Amino acid sequence: MSFVASTGSERIVCVMVGLPARGKTYVAQRVCRYLNWLGISTRVFNVGNYRRKNAGAEQSHNFFDPDNEEGNIARQMAAVEALEDMLSWFEKEDGVIAIYDATNSNRARRAMIIEHCEKRGVQTMFIESICYDQDLILSNILEVKLLSPDYTKCEAEKAVEDFKSRIKHYEKAYQTITEPELTFVKLIDVGSQVIINKIQGYLQSRVVYFLMNLHIARRSIFFSRHGESVFNVAGRIGGDTDLSPRGIQYSEALPNLIKKHLGDDELKVWTSTLSRTIQTAQHLPYPKSQWKALDEIEAGICDGLTYEEIAEKYPEEYANRDDDKFNYRYRGGESYRDVVHRLEPVIMELERQHNVLIIGHQAVLRCIYAYFMNMSHDELPYIKIPLHTLIKLTPRAYGCDVEYFKLDIDAVDTHRPKLAKSDEADDITALKSITAPAYPEK
Ligand SMILES: *[C@@H]1O[C@H](CO)[C@@H](O)[C@H](O)[C@H]1NC(C)=O
Repeated sequence: MSFVASTGSERIVCVMVGLPARGKTYVAQRVCRYLNWLGISTRVFNVGNYRRKNAGAEQSHNFFDPDNEEGNIARQMAAVEALEDMLSWFEKEDGVIAIYDATNSNRARRAMIIEHCEKRGVQTMFIESICYDQDLILSNILEVKLLSPDYTKCEAEKAVEDFKSRIKHYEKAYQTITEPELTFVKLIDVGSQVIINKIQGYLQSRVVYFLMNLHIARRSIFFSRHGESVFNVAGRIGGDTDLSPRGIQYSEALPNLIKKHLGDDELKVWTSTLSRTIQTAQHLPYPKSQWKALDEIEAGICDGLTYEEIAEKYPEEYANRDDDKFNYRYRGGESYRDVVHRLEPVIMELERQHNVLIIGHQAVLRCIYAYFMNMSHDELPYIKIPLHTLIKLTPRAYGCDVEYFKLDIDAVDTHRPKLAKSDEADDITALKSITAPAYPEK
């Protein structure tokens, strides 16, 4: 199964619409991360960045007054320049979905965008973010806008006032989407109401479905691999073995570790259907569910072997895997790309949930980690997910905070860095150039 195959030659621009501080950039980034993770080539074009490059950052709110002729021209120029770059990106880099991030707050601007896109055979889909909740707007200003390059040299209070004046200028001329012929999604107070019009095709419905599941409530996602298993100790991959004695110790220590970093909040625990994750979760006093989709990557003919045995029995398989680990599919088994696709419903459900602890496996957790941390498919198969370590992810406006809590229970190291062929000198250079996220060993 391939998502790319089913997208055919569709090319879509998602055009953000909304007053400042309505979370447009947040939504744009989230959609971008999700689609890229699925393997659908996606990029955000932020008109504000073009405007800052041309006219300089740190413009006061007067620049945004619709009666300010100079400001209008500069903003129009930035809009067209971003649009042109975006349309050539489709052609030069085989892009599938572009996200055009700007206020796009009147009918004339939207008609201009549609005209440019239609000429190049690109569909448009508008995503309007509307907020009636004043607290949501203020928290967006405080959390996001004050960190913006527009306000680097400004005091917080003055910046908030200036930003509110900027919003007033846009409000004067704002036209919510009413054009009945447009393909659009209106998101009202992120997650509380969604209105859709003329949505068609696989990719557009995928985006809508994702938007319907987004929420912005604070929560944390915890990951842990199962405790050390009998096969881990033997250096064998796959299988369905029990925990080793040290793995059992980890399962006994886990409830306190979770409690320490979660407090008294509610939590759901998800495991795979394999014994080692179920055993690891057994002492946790929270509701649990098992997901077949969380089972470890299927190693096919290599299941139950050690890496040395694989190298000896199937030398070609072994070499191919190191060449392109993300796309390499074990004979009779799965590739990382396959695992990403089967995890898609898990990600969608995670978006809906509050606190969740996933007790999983190395390859599967790498895929989920890469989703939250916006990491590329090249980096994904080499992410370090050590045994006997709890990972806590806390999503923020842009990106995630990550904390690692390592328990003092020994375990074998199952991480294999990327090796360049089998020449030893090469191995050492390759080891030095691994790009895995740094994590503090306690
Ligand atoms: C995620 O990665 C993409 C591609 O590397 C990048 O364009 C985008 O800005 C990143 N998003 C965030 C929120 O860092």
